[in-house]
Amino acid sequence: MGALFQEQFADLFAHQLTPVVSDPSTLSTLAQAAASFPTPYPIHLKVETGMGRLGLTQEELAGVIGSHRFPNSLQLEGLMTHLADTDGPATDATQQQLAQFNEAIKIVTSGGFRVPLIHAANSGGTVRFPEAHFSLVRPGLMLYGYHTLPSSVVVPDLKPVLSLRTCIAQLRIVQPGRSVSYNRTFTAKRPTRIAILPIGYADGLSRRLSNRGYVLIRGQRAPIAGLVCMDMVMVDVTHLSGASVGDEAVIIGRQGEEQITANDIAEWTGTISYEVLCSIGPRIPRQYHSS
Ligand SMILES: Cc1ncc(COP(=O)(O)O)c(C=O)c1O
Repeated sequence: MGALFQEQFADLFAHQLTPVVSDPSTLSTLAQAAASFPTPYPIHLKVETGMGRLGLTQEELAGVIGSHRFPNSLQLEGLMTHLADTDGPATDATQQQLAQFNEAIKIVTSGGFRVPLIHAANSGGTVRFPEAHFSLVRPGLMLYGYHTLPSSVVVPDLKPVLSLRTCIAQLRIVQPGRSVSYNRTFTAKRPTRIAILPIGYADGLSRRLSNRGYVLIRGQRAPIAGLVCMDMVMVDVTHLSGASVGDEAVIIGRQGEEQITANDIAEWTGTISYEVLCSIGPRIPRQYHSS
């Protein structure tokens, strides 16, 4: 659903992926590239209705659809748009976008096309605008059990399902006056037990958590001590007498009675839960559990 470049066409065809096409010139280069295929290659068209991002204008859509101009080598399988303000306090901007999208659907259907897949709704649209459901919805954030909807909206019972965990690699006592991590931003005021965790900002643990975030160890919060490093972070476990090498440390998730959510980290770092969740780096192994 992102930007599409000619250099990607070979991979697209090799893996039989369905692209979203957002401008007339890509439509014609893709049509040429697909010209030798025995059957038309399926695509979705994206129309711009108010996000100010990728997508054909209504005029461009009318141009590529009208007067049998749509390429024979392609099949118009889907029509989509993206909603910009489904989690804002007001609903009028979304309603205007949906009105424009309905116009786009009319352009396509009156051009003689039967488009099986019509879609517009992100998480907010799925919850708040039933008229945006069309034939499929595209929730992202909500799949992780989070939302950014205003408190006036009745939200389904969502449960955060992602957890990010590591374990203690080493423990050391830092004596008063000695410091922890780069640039000496944390200096021990008392004999301080420091746990070293093998996760850092290269893994998505924001450097803005330095000296202000927490992790969970043995069911309790342990504050981050000093600057978060690229591959490691240090936490103060002085109050957790039993903490040992190998203990689980929860960055996001629940441990015992305590929980740290992506919303908490977003608040500590001045961002939104989306950014926290999608910053988790590629070298963190993903494990999928069914409950
Ligand atoms: C095209 C498109 N559809 C759907 C989504 C999902 O949005 P959300 O995470 O708000 O549900 C996104 C998110 O960036 C998107 O860019």
